[in-house]
Amino acid sequence: MAPASLITLLVILSVAFVAHASDPDILTDFVVPPGTNASVLDGAFFTYTGLIADNSANPAKFTVSKATAAEFPALLGQSVSYAALVFGPGTVNPPHVHPRASELLYVVQGPLLVGLVDETKNELYAQTLQTGDMFVFPKGMVHFQFNGGEHVARAFSAFGSASPGTVSLPVTLFESGIPDAVLEKSLHVDEATVHALEHDLAPPAPAPAPDSPPAPKNGAASPVPACLSLLVGFAASLLL
Ligand SMILES: *[C@@H]1O[C@H](CO)[C@@H](O)[C@H](O)[C@H]1NC(C)=O
Repeated sequence: MAPASLITLLVILSVAFVAHASDPDILTDFVVPPGTNASVLDGAFFTYTGLIADNSANPAKFTVSKATAAEFPALLGQSVSYAALVFGPGTVNPPHVHPRASELLYVVQGPLLVGLVDETKNELYAQTLQTGDMFVFPKGMVHFQFNGGEHVARAFSAFGSASPGTVSLPVTLFESGIPDAVLEKSLHVDEATVHALEHDLAPPAPAPAPDSPPAPKNGAASPVPACLSLLVGFAASLLL
């Protein structure tokens, strides 16, 4: 997808999110979960081994794995967490917001296009990051990452909260149960287009039984880019 299309999409989709949430200040050095005997803690409590990014040579999809308080309880009250992001060729981490944390993204395998929307001016700040580059997404601002290249891209993100939260704009708009009429009026599209977007984001059908004939190949690598293309299509048509 061309950056210009992404800009158009973001201009149409941008929502003024206001974020004031933050992690509580704890009155102890760290928080021991209820039921844990603090006097028998060892190094394992402060260790997490689950941040397994997709290490396959040619990943096709976008995947994110997280080390937040949910996965790693020792982070409770520490105001930090991590994510590992792997972008197959042509994949996107769709426009989203972290309501409780700024994000500091470090590219270990570029290039990777990133962008954020300044909600006060509705202005896009985008950058193509190379390996070794770092980019900050301020707390509560709409942002995305997109690998438009033909090779895998990888990045790690640090967050200023043990529970940053994620509000995905496509998922929030089309999978939360917002009435179709609201979406039609808000996006200036007809009912069929809203249904197409909702259907496009719906979870994929279960895999066919081994002996059934293979399903026809769908051109889209993942449902999200297809949805974004459709959105860009009608967003562009509005502007023409
Ligand atoms: C916690 O562990 C210590 C050391 O093993 C033990 O002496 C103590 O009784 C334990 N406390 C509880 C509430 O189990």
